[in-house]
Amino acid sequence: MEKKDDAKVELDAAGQPIKPNKDLDNNNKNDDKTDSLIDKMSNLCVKDEDETKKDKGETKIDKYETFISKLKNGEFKKIAFLTGAGTSTSAGIPDFRSPNGLFKQLQEKYNLSSPSEFFDIDTFYKNPEYFYEFSKNLDLYSYKPTPFHYFMGFLEKKGLLKILFTQNIDGLDLRCGIPFDKVVCAHGNYLEGHCPKCKKDVDMEQLREHIAKGEIYKCPTCQGPCKPKIVFYGEMLPMKFFENLKVLKDVDLAIVCGTSLLVGPFNSLPYEVDENCWRIVINKEKVGDLYGHNCFKYDDDDSTDYLMVSYADDAVKKIVKDCGWEEDFNKFMEETKKNIP
Ligand code: OAD
Ligand code: ZN
Repeated sequence: MEKKDDAKVELDAAGQPIKPNKDLDNNNKNDDKTDSLIDKMSNLCVKDEDETKKDKGETKIDKYETFISKLKNGEFKKIAFLTGAGTSTSAGIPDFRSPNGLFKQLQEKYNLSSPSEFFDIDTFYKNPEYFYEFSKNLDLYSYKPTPFHYFMGFLEKKGLLKILFTQNIDGLDLRCGIPFDKVVCAHGNYLEGHCPKCKKDVDMEQLREHIAKGEIYKCPTCQGPCKPKIVFYGEMLPMKFFENLKVLKDVDLAIVCGTSLLVGPFNSLPYEVDENCWRIVINKEKVGDLYGHNCFKYDDDDSTDYLMVSYADDAVKKIVKDCGWEEDFNKFMEETKKNIP
């Protein structure tokens, strides 16, 4: 399963932002060259944008309203979600980089030199007992999907969900009515086990038993320490991630939620979409402007990028209400909770 080098989770030992790779930057719809050409052209225009619109008989419509009207009226037919830890914090699972996030907790507990070191494959080889201890206390099944997860399931039920790329390994996306083949767990999952050294799959039941006892499960082939198939820094992403990149070219709405967009190659996904695709970013703080790179054109009235600074569940509540879907959505949540425990 060897892939291109740039396909690894980009190790950022200092926990610093990782810039999307250059090739993808060149596909960026906010290409610098295009920007400067537009700047030059707009210098030739003496009227401001609103005046021009008035001349054409157009009135300026709020971008959020346009988004809602298109969603409500079924104009978005193929929707992608690109999600991170912030979609599960309301379930009680901490994210990584918030002030009381996992990175800080683990760095302090294990006295690590950098925030992301705990999830580095070399740390795992040196001290597999750290990760075993962490996993022993982690009962992912005790967490419940959030309204945001159910919203994705709701859109699937409406026949609108094309694909979900998630960085989360909590499996909550699979418990809200989205079929497995539409979920790309970019950073792996806790359902399967493997040996990261020789890449052999191992029996997850046995691995689980070892984790519960705090005993390192040694690979039957190479004696290396085994772990669930979650992707550590320095490891390759699953093939499914690469195989599904092309699906993003074919979506008309991408909803990015609960991710700092600091980790590559996942943070390049928003640039895989077609330039006419709407990109809605929902996050409790502004994200998506790495290195002042201005990845999203939130402030440009003519762009189809929109930032909702909001908690994920609050944003869902608002969107569902504004679309007039409240009753159907609540019914969907209740039924799904009953059928998928
Ligand atoms: P981060 O912790 O980096 O970012 C989570 C983002 O969600 C932050 O911008 C928070 O402000 C925001 N957030 C938190 N709670 C929220 C809520 N209820 N509603 C809306 N926004 C909220 O997590 P990720 O971006 O998912 O990888 O992290 C990416 C990767 O870094 C992880 O998959 C993991 C980590 O290293 C590996 O370990 C390989
Ligand atoms: Zn092995």
